[in-house]
Amino acid sequence: MSSYHTPVMLDESISALVTNPQGIYADATFGGGGHTAAILSRLNDGGRVIAFDRDSDALGNRLDDPRLTLIHNNFRFIENYRAALSGSLDSRLSDGFDGILADLGVSSHQFDTAERGFSFRFDAPLDMRMDNGHGTDAATLVNTLEEKDLEKIFSLYGEIPGARRIASMIAAARKQKPILTTTDLNEAVSRAVPAAAPHKFLAKLYQALRIEVNQEMRSLEKFLDGAARSLKAGGRLVVITYHSLEDRMVKNFIRTGNVDGTVEKDPVFGRVDTPLEPLLKKAATPREEETASNTRARSAKLRVGVKLPHGPAKEREDAR
Ligand SMILES: C[S@@+](CC[C@H](N)C(=O)[O-])C[C@H]1O[C@@H](n2cnc3c(N)ncnc32)[C@H](O)[C@@H]1O
Repeated sequence: MSSYHTPVMLDESISALVTNPQGIYADATFGGGGHTAAILSRLNDGGRVIAFDRDSDALGNRLDDPRLTLIHNNFRFIENYRAALSGSLDSRLSDGFDGILADLGVSSHQFDTAERGFSFRFDAPLDMRMDNGHGTDAATLVNTLEEKDLEKIFSLYGEIPGARRIASMIAAARKQKPILTTTDLNEAVSRAVPAAAPHKFLAKLYQALRIEVNQEMRSLEKFLDGAARSLKAGGRLVVITYHSLEDRMVKNFIRTGNVDGTVEKDPVFGRVDTPLEPLLKKAATPREEETASNTRARSAKLRVGVKLPHGPAKEREDAR
């Protein structure tokens, strides 16, 4: 297990995912490669893993295993890669993956690398981009977004009470001087930080900004859609989430086929028109031994969807 990242709910997720030792699996969030290594250990020579990570730092954890293909890109493109690789790598992919795993959020390495700006614990540029320098950084958002948009981000992605007050503190501070570093941001909101739980508050504030910087909800929605289309019948989608908004999206998607949870009935058969069905009645959570030794695991929730043989009506219509 690397110091890069300790995989969360490793046994539970891999046992739910791997049903065929010669199957083809996707690990959408390679990180330190802990989950990928565990999948590979359950596969024989005929098995394969296609892994993704948008962070080039993760590529340094590449495992020396011919059964692994590591892709440096956003997991939202999983369906495009499945289609392309069915021609260039393994024709079995035209039937889809046997299972797809996503362990969402950021790695310990990303949090603990000061200059990436993900953590309030270090003095560093306010960056927070997972894709190493691509896209808009957190400093730009904090200095340019309208106050009401900042409020929305803090309230929606951080579930922070008093989001409006924090947004207005930031708007006042940036009039004095631009907020460029984590220290600048911590100072700008210092009067709102509760003395009883300062770290919890700052963690939520930084989480909210990080989600916006990396457009995590948009990527997740696209991913869920692409993943459902990319599974073969009976294939499993296993997702580990770390906050309630993303868990709700995953739960809704597995039940109804869309992240809002709107139930659409098949006009002919009258059943819920969704590509997946839940394997577990409710989300699984880590065992006590794990949360005691890995604080990051505390908020983890694992959900599993199984691809139905019929697929949604929309997909069937597209295929006609
Ligand atoms: C929680 S870590 C995964 C850790 C991994 N399961 C392990 O065992 O080490 C999440 C990883 O997913 C990557 N990631 C997050 N969102 C992504 C996305 N939309 N596309 C591709 N990679 C993503 C992050 O860069 C990070 O390395």
